[in-house]
Amino acid sequence: MLIDPKKQTFKENYKLMIGSILPRPIAFISTISQDGIHNLAPFSFFTGITSDPPTICFSPTRRGTDGEAKDTLKNIKATGEFVINIVNEAIVKEMNETATEFPPEVDEFLQSGLTAVPAEIVSAPLVKESPISFECKRLQVLEIGKAQAGGGFLVIGEIVMFHIKDSLLENGRINTELLNPVGRLAGAEYTKLGERFTLKRK
Ligand SMILES: Cc1cc2nc3c(=O)[nH]c(=O)nc-3n(C[C@H](O)[C@H](O)[C@H](O)COP(=O)(O)O)c2cc1C
Repeated sequence: MLIDPKKQTFKENYKLMIGSILPRPIAFISTISQDGIHNLAPFSFFTGITSDPPTICFSPTRRGTDGEAKDTLKNIKATGEFVINIVNEAIVKEMNETATEFPPEVDEFLQSGLTAVPAEIVSAPLVKESPISFECKRLQVLEIGKAQAGGGFLVIGEIVMFHIKDSLLENGRINTELLNPVGRLAGAEYTKLGERFTLKRK
């Protein structure tokens, strides 16, 4: 079947994308507003870009209801800093609590019961319960699409500090079995790591 995205609504295109690009890792992003309020929200349009410098990107879209930018983006634009916390099975329910569109004055750490701890370099806090956190500084924010629902932004950031739980690190590699990461599928569905297999490269 051929589907021309220009003949569909952004919601229909979104459904095809989230059902095809999966499983997606979840960047659980902590920021702080100019008024000092902590914010926490998950983003699964997220990936790494380069390792020198260690660079990641994620995309906060505009709110589907009114086309407004999300609090996470507003805070990153204002402070230039954020923290990406990795979501594992132990904190996935708490992560889900933070995905509600709370007004900017609501601290999502308090809503979810997760603990904010100070970072080493950036002003945004870490999620204490997360096994891995990346302190990040904003490199670029690109605006994509129109300034209305369906459009959004690509945030590119440099990792300036890795926080890795000691027990996960073995000879410089992460033990992914112990990490128990969670992936996002479409809609309300998530996945754990399933059966593994290896392929040798020639
Ligand atoms: C697992 C998960 C992944 C999400 N991924 C994204 C995403 O990639 N981009 C986005 O704009 N919103 C995403 N959302 C929705 C945001 O988390 C939600 O809009 C949140 O309320 C934004 O919070 P903020 O306004 O405090 O930044 C996701 C939600 C969940 C539960």
